[in-house]
Amino acid sequence: MASVIIAGVGAYTPERILTNADLCKMVDTSDEWIRTRSGISERHIAGPDEATSDLALKAAAAALKDANISASEVDLLIVATATPDYPLPSTACVVQHKLGIPPHATAFDIAAACSGFVYALEIAYGQLLTGRYKCALIIGAEKLSSIVDWSDRTTCVLFGDGAGAAVLKKVDQDGIGIIGSDLGADGELAEYLYIPAGGSRCPSSAKTVAEKSQFLRMKGKEIFKNAVRVMETVAREMVEQHHLTFDQINLVIPHQANVRIVEALAGNLGVPLERFYVNIDRFGNTSSASIPIALDEARRAGRIKPGDYTLLVAFGAGFTYGSTLIRW
Ligand code: ACO
Repeated sequence: MASVIIAGVGAYTPERILTNADLCKMVDTSDEWIRTRSGISERHIAGPDEATSDLALKAAAAALKDANISASEVDLLIVATATPDYPLPSTACVVQHKLGIPPHATAFDIAAACSGFVYALEIAYGQLLTGRYKCALIIGAEKLSSIVDWSDRTTCVLFGDGAGAAVLKKVDQDGIGIIGSDLGADGELAEYLYIPAGGSRCPSSAKTVAEKSQFLRMKGKEIFKNAVRVMETVAREMVEQHHLTFDQINLVIPHQANVRIVEALAGNLGVPLERFYVNIDRFGNTSSASIPIALDEARRAGRIKPGDYTLLVAFGAGFTYGSTLIRW
């Protein structure tokens, strides 16, 4: 029997840090409001010359180094992003070229918002198991600062920029690596978090720019409730499907959107908060990058040991959601 393992992980966040105090000079808010409502103290913001692919490249290089694999060995590249460099071509093609991944590789982007990394994991896992590909590089990368309205205090305090990546390989060993994954999508909730303009329904124009409809719009309270509901469902399903209990899950890495969402999820699942990895205080919500950035940190911090079970659980615009169970 064969398994698909995570052979290496890496992350990159831009140098510039925007603190809550900095935000107080930009919009009518307070450090206390942001911390108590979201758990965020600061976030990293990309420079004007840094695009999503630049963040992705650095995270990918770190993951390849961690896996001790050269870019020439990668034959499947997936970039999960809601903030591509261009509407077309894909950010994956930009990364493929700049990283030196051979042109015979398959490279594409996926749009699953904050669930993008777990969606990419599922796709790469399935493709590697078939034997069609040998080495997959998956990246979650976002420059959310480019789609945030910096005059809207209800959204701008929540998001940050960054990238995380993982290298996946098939090994001839049973019961390690990705044990299973479960994805879902509910388009009925699509308008809870969306960008009205810039797509085919409402192409960019002077009017859309004047209305600021190229920026993200969000129904925070509705997202909050649904996030807790869907993450609880997919987390339970994944654990039960594999005949485990939550006592056996050493670490849960949730999408980092709001610490109160994580607290509610932990309470509903009956899992102590200490077994959740939380770094939202330092990065804010980095969408598809949030789970791989947290995974990279958790490994470096010694929170993941051989034999451990780690559960990734995400939700995002769409409404997309998913969970991945990993044994190290
Ligand atoms: N500073 C000060 N006051 C603010 C701010 C701010 N930054 N933002 C909103 N307020 C005000 C509101 O105007 C409101 O005032 P009012 O009562 O006079 O009308 C008050 O604070 C309370 O606002 P609520 O919306 O009720 O605050 P809530 O407790 O619901 O928290 C939040 C808002 C943080 C957005 C929360 O609902 C949340 O985190 N929701 C989930 C958002 C999320 O996860 N989004 C990402 C999705 S994932 C993806 O795909 C990117």
